[in-house]
Amino acid sequence: MNVVYGTAMIPMAVLVSGGGTNLQALIDAAEAGVLSWGKIALVISSTPQAYALKRAAQHRIPAVIVERNQYHDAAAYDRAMLHTLEAHRIRLVVLAGFLAILGTPVIQAYKKRIINIHPSLLPAFGGRGYYGLKVHEAVLAQGVKVTGATVHYVDERVDGGEIIVQKTVEVLEGDTPEVLQKRVMEQAEWLLLPAAVELVCKLDTT
Ligand code: GAR
Repeated sequence: MNVVYGTAMIPMAVLVSGGGTNLQALIDAAEAGVLSWGKIALVISSTPQAYALKRAAQHRIPAVIVERNQYHDAAAYDRAMLHTLEAHRIRLVVLAGFLAILGTPVIQAYKKRIINIHPSLLPAFGGRGYYGLKVHEAVLAQGVKVTGATVHYVDERVDGGEIIVQKTVEVLEGDTPEVLQKRVMEQAEWLLLPAAVELVCKLDTT
C-alpha cells in the first residue's frame, strides 16, 4: 500500500542495524494513517546485512548504508552521518535497534531531535553493553518481575537522555531471553515507538 503524505510532515530518518521490526512498526503505523505528523524519509543502516534494508525496499523507502568501518576515525564517520542527514533534510532521527555510536557532532546538531528505543525500563538495564538480547538476559538473571521498554531523547550518555515514554511488561515464570524479548516487542516496543514519534513530531510543529 502506498502512503500519501501531507507536505508539512516532519521528515525523519530511521537508523537500524538488524531485523528492523521497530522500523516495520513505524511503516505499519504510517500506512495505517496513524503517523500523521512525521514521514519516514530515509532509512540508514550501519551494515549492508540488516534485514531492515529489505523492509525499506519493500515499501520503497530510500535507504543508505553508513558503515563505521568505512571511515578511518569516529570524526569522519560523524561527518558522513551528518552529511547524509542534512542532504535528506532530516529533522528527526529515530534509533530503532541502531547499534553504532553517534558522536557529539551529530548529537549536538540534532539536539532533542534524536530518539532511541531501548528494551527495558530505563535507567534499569541500560548503558554500555546493554543491547538486544543481552538486556533480557540481564533482566532474567536479576529476577525482576516487571520489565518493559523506554523511548528517550539521545544525549552523550549511553541510554541516559530524558525519558519520553515507557511501557511495562510482565516477566513470567519460565521465560527465556528470546520469549521475553518477543513479549517486550509485541506488548511495548511496537506500540510505544510509533506513539513516541507521533508525540515528538507533534511537539515540533506546535
Ligand atoms: C529492539 O529490541 C530494540 O529495542 C533494541 O534492539 C532491538 C532491535 O530490534 N535496541 C537496543 O537494545 C538499543 N540499546 P529490531 O531491529 O527488530 O527493531
